[in-house]
Amino acid sequence: MEETVAKKRMLSGIKPSGDLTLGSYLGAIKNWKERADEFDCFYFMADLHAITVRQDPASLRRRTLEQLAQYIACGLDPEKNTLFIQSHVHQHAELGWVLNCYSMFGELSRMTQFKDKSAKNADNINGGLFTYPSLMAADILLYQPDYVPVGEDQKQHVELCHTIARRFNGVYGDVFKIPEPYVPKVGARIMSLTNPTAKMSKSEDEDTGRVLLMDAPEVIMKQFKRAITDSDTENCVRYDKENKPGVANLMTIYSAVTGKTYDEIEAEFAGSGYGKFKPAVGEAVVEMLRPIREEATRLMKDKGYLEGIFRDGAQKASYVAEKTLRKVYKKVGFVAK
Ligand code: TYM
Repeated sequence: MEETVAKKRMLSGIKPSGDLTLGSYLGAIKNWKERADEFDCFYFMADLHAITVRQDPASLRRRTLEQLAQYIACGLDPEKNTLFIQSHVHQHAELGWVLNCYSMFGELSRMTQFKDKSAKNADNINGGLFTYPSLMAADILLYQPDYVPVGEDQKQHVELCHTIARRFNGVYGDVFKIPEPYVPKVGARIMSLTNPTAKMSKSEDEDTGRVLLMDAPEVIMKQFKRAITDSDTENCVRYDKENKPGVANLMTIYSAVTGKTYDEIEAEFAGSGYGKFKPAVGEAVVEMLRPIREEATRLMKDKGYLEGIFRDGAQKASYVAEKTLRKVYKKVGFVAK
């Protein structure tokens, strides 16, 4: 008799706080789709997280739907992956509250993202921004996943999720599975093209240093042609993250897109300098993003289809999430409904 082995589970999310960038794709989504057949996958639009920073309501709605269209266009088949909007699954906010009570002030204060975001939004350092990692822990733990595929900057939050889960399990027994972050070997931290010491970010205002998934080919080519290389006069494509961060970032992008190693890239551009290298990276990115942009644009015209996907997704997600939430409520001593 054939034995059926339960698939391992993956879960991740992205805040619709800005338009998706090449960084969101290479750091996260690329890994999501590569594992879609192997794992039972849950991916969501983290709209509850997006409002920790002020959002224009119409833009937030547009970006949330566009993000769903982009997930599908990137290759996440809605038949194989559960795709949903975080605020449609009320269990996230409910478990988030419970886990707030198991997250320590000191731990939350040490989060790099909290420190960065409070420096950038000094007039709006709200409670949500501070307790954001407890909600993120709830997002994860509700689904008992094995892996959480994220870029480098979210690793600290996944590690805090471990701490919170272990603390809870330590009091009540094995309620939560302890998940592992799953960070790509190449592309975990894509930097701005104009400031290679800062992360390429979707939340920044108009910035020439980022590439959006929906950018037209000519815009992408322009961005790469004006990408900062280095102040050295070497004009040589060589991987040296410390002394040549601009070139290293471009090499990382090229490697993540083409699958070539740094040695292969150095050999490919030996003797040809940055003038040939920069447009070559741009072209590789254009070709990778072209089908995604075209498919997402097509899907955005079919709101009925997208609605069907997010409704189904919320139903499936809610079914799984509710099981964990019931268990948690019982453990902490809430009276059953
Ligand atoms: P967010 O929305 O900032 O980023 C989404 C994902 O993209 C990755 N990423 C990058 N990777 C490489 N280079 C970059 N420049 C770059 N920019 C973004 C991020 O690491 C992330 O994987 N808190 C999360 C959203 C979230 C979540 C969750 C993630 C909410 N709940 C539960 C996993 C599990 C966030 O703000 O990611």
